[in-house]
Formats: sequence, structure tokens, C-alpha cells
Amino acid sequence: MSGLQITTNSPGETEQLGSILGSLLSPGSFLALRGDLGGGKTCLTRGVVASLAPQSTHLVASPTYAIMNCYPGSIPVYHFDFYRLTGDDDIAELGFEEFFYGDGVCIVEWSERLVELMPSDVLTLLFEYSEGDRRLITITSSGQKYDVVLEQLSGRL
Ligand SMILES: Nc1ncnc2c1ncn2[C@@H]1O[C@H](COP(=O)(O)OP(=O)(O)OP(=O)(O)O)[C@@H](O)[C@H]1O
Ligand SMILES: [Mg+2]
Repeated sequence: MSGLQITTNSPGETEQLGSILGSLLSPGSFLALRGDLGGGKTCLTRGVVASLAPQSTHLVASPTYAIMNCYPGSIPVYHFDFYRLTGDDDIAELGFEEFFYGDGVCIVEWSERLVELMPSDVLTLLFEYSEGDRRLITITSSGQKYDVVLEQLSGRL
């Protein structure tokens, strides 16, 4: 496991980070987003979608009622928000697991809700408030595929 810490100074910078990251992803990629409420998870997701499914970027919002949104693109993006779920039981019952190992890119906000269902190979992004509009984003990889993504990302920043 290796890691990278990035401070962004504005929503635009967080979105830009997402769009660079998006360009490094491939079918089956899984991003686990966790941390502070309002930390910038949806903002970063908008950037990833801008890379992979640009025609859907305007649709990316914190899903209020929807737990999952699908954005068709060069690689489909499945965007989950598990804030309102209690954990694995809900997630299994709703049948989301089948998307986790499919051909799309999965982005899960509130990935804290996943316990046993968390895939073993993931890129985890932790969002924390810092002074003013700053956000500290700590990215850790688990699995060789994501070690490479992290190295590439670090080279692009
Ligand atoms: N550096 C920054 N990066 C991202 N968002 C920022 C930053 N500075 C300020 N913001 C503001 O913080 C908010 C982040 O909202 P966003 O919906 O992306 O967070 P979230 O982590 O998805 O929230 P939730 O936990 O409710 O899902 C926005 O209002 C955005 O304008
Ligand atoms: Mg959100």
C-alpha cells in the first residue's frame, strides 16, 4: 500500500484532480471516497466524469434520493452515494455488488458504509477540511493496479 497527500485550494482544483485521475482509470476501476461531510467527494467525481463521460458532467450532483447514478461514456461511470445506507446488508439487498466487478468505473461516496463488501483492490480517497477553502485529500492504493495509478497521478501533479 502506498499513499499521496494533496491539498486543493478551491472546488475547481478538486475537480481538476478528479479529471486527471479519471484519465488514468480503466474498466473495473473502483474509487472509495470517504471523509468529511462536504469534503469535496461529489466535486472530485464531477472531474472524473468530465474525463470519462463529458456529456454527463452537468448531471453530477449529490444524489439526494438516488443512491446510484450511471453516466454513459467511453467507460461508463457508476456513481454511488451510500450516506443513507446502514451498511453491507442494505447494499447487498439493493444488488449493487454486481456493478463493483463490472466493466465500468465505480465511484462510491461514503465508502465507510462498505465493510465486507469493500473490494480488496481499490483506490481510497480521504477528504478532510483544512484552513479556509482548502481540502486535504489523502489517496491510498491497495492492489498493484492502483499502485501504478497512484504513481502516474503523482507524476502528473
Ligand atoms: N478545495 C475544495 N474542494 C472541493 N470543494 C470545496 C473546496 N473548497 C470549498 N468547497 C466547497 O465544499 C463543498 C463540497 O461539496 P461536495 O458536494 O463536493 O462534498 P461531498 O463530500 O460530496 O459532500 P457530502 O458528504 O454531502 O456528499 C462545495 O460547496 C464546494 O464549493
Ligand atoms: Mg457528495
